[in-house]
Formats: sequence, C-alpha cells, structure tokens
Amino acid sequence: MQSLQQKASEWSGVAASDAFAIDETNIFNVLGGSIEPFVDLSTNFYNRVYNDEEEWFRSIFARSRKEDAIRNQYEFFVQRMGGPPLYSNRKGHPALIGRHRPFPVTHEAAERWLHHMQQALDSTPSIDPAIKAKMMNFFRHTAFFLVAGNEMAREAKEVPCKHKNKLPV
Ligand code: HEM
Repeated sequence: MQSLQQKASEWSGVAASDAFAIDETNIFNVLGGSIEPFVDLSTNFYNRVYNDEEEWFRSIFARSRKEDAIRNQYEFFVQRMGGPPLYSNRKGHPALIGRHRPFPVTHEAAERWLHHMQQALDSTPSIDPAIKAKMMNFFRHTAFFLVAGNEMAREAKEVPCKHKNKLPV
C-alpha cells in the first residue's frame, strides 16, 4: 500500500526531497528574523480566499473568521520555517490531517488553494524569489498530503466494522 507521503509526491509532482528543502536553510532567519513576511503572505492569501469568485471554495472557510485563519496560518508557517513555535505555544501540535478532517480537502480544493497561494506569493515582495520557489514545493506537497489524509479518513469511515452485527443489543 502506498504511504501518504508517496501519494503526496505522486499527486503533487513534487519529490519529498524538494518539498523538505525548506529545512536546508532557516527560512525565518533568511527573511530577516521577523514574522512580517509571513503575516504579509497569509494576509494576501486569505484576502484572496475570502473573496474567491468560486463559491464552493470560499464556503469551505465560512466557519472561520478571516483574522483567525490568517493568524493560524502565519504562526504555523513561522514555526515550520525555523522561527519560534508560535502556533504550538497557542494551539498544541499542528496535526494538520486531523485539523483538516472537517473540510472537503479534495484534489480540486488543493489546486484552488495552491492557485491562491501562488498569487499570494507573487504579490508578497518581502519574500525573495528563491525562497518562494522552495515554499511553493513545500505547499504543493503538503496540500496533496492533506488530500491523501482526507481520502484515507473517509475510506476508513466507509468500512463497516466486522463486529457490527455481533454486538450485544
Ligand atoms: C486551517 C482548508 C491546505 C495549513 C484550515 C482551515 C480550512 C483549511 C478551511 C480552517 C481555517 C482556520 O480556522 O484556521 C484547507 C484546504 C486546503 C488546505 C481546502 C487544500 C489542500 C493547507 C496546507 C497547509 C495548511 C497546504 C500547510 C502548508 C493550515 C493550518 C491551519 C489550516 C496550519 C490552521 C489549523 C487550526 O489551527 O485549526 N485549512 N487547507 N492548509 N490550514 Fe489548511
């Protein structure tokens, strides 16, 4: 059986070694050791998401306040890319598959998410181009890792328990 990482690489077209090239340098330090570039990126990203002309995609985020979504995202990016553990200090382990379980993280949703993220990166001058390319590989691989995790969770739900009819009533 293929692992979630293998599926993520196959579906995203990004090898794990390219996705995790974000760990070769401390991106947080390279970007000046401040949260500002990450705040800029997540603000640009969610401004696009919450204004998306595609209602099906916009509605996935309808239960979250935009300000909260921005903070959740940039705090995670800061800690994942070498900065202080802002996200975990506030919310615990990121557990991304589990935290995305309520949402329809389909192939189509991943492509839309990545479309907005590419545009958000394009409009964030505080991040230099070589870092943008590394980030995008990580985002692409992670997006499809989440799609694979979402499919796995849904398949597990569909398999009926073999003891279903044998339980005492
Ligand atoms: C949260 C959807 C990909 C990281 C969320 C939320 C939604 C969502 C609806 C809730 C917003 C909030 O309240 O924070 C999606 C969809 C994706 C996707 C449809 C398509 C594949 C990603 C990727 C990453 C990521 C690629 C990381 C690289 C996060 C984080 C949170 C979050 C850190 C905050 C979780 C929390 O604190 O509850 N996502 N996401 N997401 N997402 Fe995604």
